[in-house]
Amino acid sequence: MRAAESTHRLEPLRQRLQERDLDAIVVSAPANVRYLSGFSGSLGFLVVTAASAEILGDSRYWIQMAEEAPAYTLVRAGQSTRLFDLVPERLRALGARRVGFEAQHLTVAAYDRLHLGVGDGIDLRPTSGLIEELRMRKSPDEVELLRAAADISSRAFDRVLKAIRPGLRERDVAFLLEQTFRELGADGPAFDTIVAAGERAALPHAHPTDRTIVQGDMVVIDFGASAAGYCADITRTVVVGSASPDQRRALETVRAAQQQSVQAMKPGVACAEIDRIARDAVTAAAGAEAAFGHGLGHGVGLEVHERPGLSASDDTVLQPGMVITNEPGVYIAGWGGVRLEDMVLITAQGNEVISSASRMAEIGS
Ligand code: GLY
Ligand code: MN
Ligand code: MN
Repeated sequence: MRAAESTHRLEPLRQRLQERDLDAIVVSAPANVRYLSGFSGSLGFLVVTAASAEILGDSRYWIQMAEEAPAYTLVRAGQSTRLFDLVPERLRALGARRVGFEAQHLTVAAYDRLHLGVGDGIDLRPTSGLIEELRMRKSPDEVELLRAAADISSRAFDRVLKAIRPGLRERDVAFLLEQTFRELGADGPAFDTIVAAGERAALPHAHPTDRTIVQGDMVVIDFGASAAGYCADITRTVVVGSASPDQRRALETVRAAQQQSVQAMKPGVACAEIDRIARDAVTAAAGAEAAFGHGLGHGVGLEVHERPGLSASDDTVLQPGMVITNEPGVYIAGWGGVRLEDMVLITAQGNEVISSASRMAEIGS
């Protein structure tokens, strides 16, 4: 992340602190720490006030923090000071009285320790989604990074698609994809690759197994690379051979549901409305037995699953800069399933699909 970007991200955070009457916030969720500061390591805390921005780290990360988070003052936990004990120490030193913490990320044990450490003079207040809301709209730099992750993932899939044939196991396909991500410059997979063949495709989050792919199998492949911290999340479903009438119908149902709902993704439309369009389309064509129970999609960025969610319970209104997956599915126990997933950038005019992996539905026939 460019240093200017980090400084830029402090402004809306400070505005939110002011609106909530908070003197400071303790940021502990790694993705939020990275988003705000640029620091990409596994452990570090931010303490941000109206006038200061500090990053607290132990010796494993001092050099990295200084390099990656130049907009923050580095506070070092020495050998005699445990890292987390620095948090109440700094809050007291900064004179903070009302302090926000990330209720969705701090464990109860950590909260108890913080509470004990700050004593009675500091009022700890839970916050929820404060930074996650800032992360919903991606900056132009972030959009570029998401495009790069989507591009690596799409190219990897196109390569591996040529190798899929009867005799390969689900886990072989997953391995080939993850290897290719790295060959193309990714840090690795953004999540455990899903490869589910035949009847196993009815499990939306199947783990690849030793099951061998046979002629006529429909295979759901859900994959995404992580590159420069940003995640891709794409799904394709292919038939090895020629699709049967049932397979063709299921593929067509999901394709139509995705097409209709992607078309509706534009600024001003609520997430719940997009979800409804796809769900109605699946239910009308495939009935309730299709078991499309998961949400239609989710924001994607530094984490695979971010806000907002394309679901009945999320009324967030789409805005330019959001990058959201669209992933309807049909799952029938004992038979199999279909899912198609693309990454959609909301633009001022409408949207742009940024995942370009091959949409070929039948291979090797
Ligand atoms: N790959 C997980 C998901 O699609 O949400
Ligand atoms: Mn996925
Ligand atoms: Mn997804």
